[in-house]
Amino acid sequence: MLELKGLEKTYLKHTVNEHRALRGIDLQIADGEFITVIGSNGAGKSTLFNAVAGTFFCERGRIVLDGRDITYVREHRRARQISRIFQDPMKGSAPGLTIAENIALAYARGENHLFSFALSRRKLELFRDCLAQLNMDLENRMNTRMGLLSGGQRQAVTLLMATIHTPRLLLLDEHTAALDPLTAERVLEMTRSIVAERNITTLMITHNINAALSTGSRTLMMEQGQIILDLEGGTRDAMSVPDLLAVYREKCGKALDNDRMLLDNEQNMDVHGSE
Ligand SMILES: Nc1ncnc2c1ncn2[C@@H]1O[C@H](COP(=O)(O)OP(=O)(O)OP(=O)(O)O)[C@@H](O)[C@H]1O
Ligand SMILES: [Mg+2]
Repeated sequence: MLELKGLEKTYLKHTVNEHRALRGIDLQIADGEFITVIGSNGAGKSTLFNAVAGTFFCERGRIVLDGRDITYVREHRRARQISRIFQDPMKGSAPGLTIAENIALAYARGENHLFSFALSRRKLELFRDCLAQLNMDLENRMNTRMGLLSGGQRQAVTLLMATIHTPRLLLLDEHTAALDPLTAERVLEMTRSIVAERNITTLMITHNINAALSTGSRTLMMEQGQIILDLEGGTRDAMSVPDLLAVYREKCGKALDNDRMLLDNEQNMDVHGSE
């Protein structure tokens, strides 16, 4: 359903800082696939997401979603089909609006008439049901301003907002990286459950290799603007964290180096436990 053909993106072209961030990305993603993406800092993971979301147009290559060429479709038009969540819990919602108002805004985005922002009783009930599924007791705090919530609570509501109308594609750019390990695991679990229940085609960037291997059904490894490994099926099932780090070392001649990976204690233990 999503096809990328020969995508190339160069930042700061014709300057001394010119950088080829995407160097010919070819990728086919089937309906309902949940793919995790790993790689060192600067490998081009976020750039790939920006290309797919339409933040900029690539110099070369094509992007086809559901058989439709969207290579030159603008970002706000793609947003109807493509939902994104970023690392920063502050980014996905308006701090001055209440939980209910934030969800209403996300809900209105999928509707075509202008006044759907109004909070009808029916909508409030729908939002309450959705919030209850998060198991964070937020359904009883619908009039609380978003700015007062913890990072984990905000990311959970952002996840709900991003999926309130089932998107064709969900892009998660390290959406649990700023959370403490327990909360991160909880938001990840919510993500798994929403994605599975609604069969949402999803790409998730993570620095947590353990999570990358245990979430979804396929894992991509990026390095210097290319996909250097595409794992699924039995090969992926048999791959442990140390195995994957060894594959990276073999392919790139250095250890996988990601600052968020080193900050994550649990992950750190995994990495060092293997040496
Ligand atoms: N707007 C920009 N202008 C210039 N260079 C950029 C820009 N955005 C990213 N880059 C460069 O492109 C390369 C890829 O960046 P990108 O953000 O895609 O990496 P990443 O894999 O997401 O890394 P990280 O794990 O640190 O988030 C990096 O070298 C980065 O410095
Ligand atoms: Mg990034």
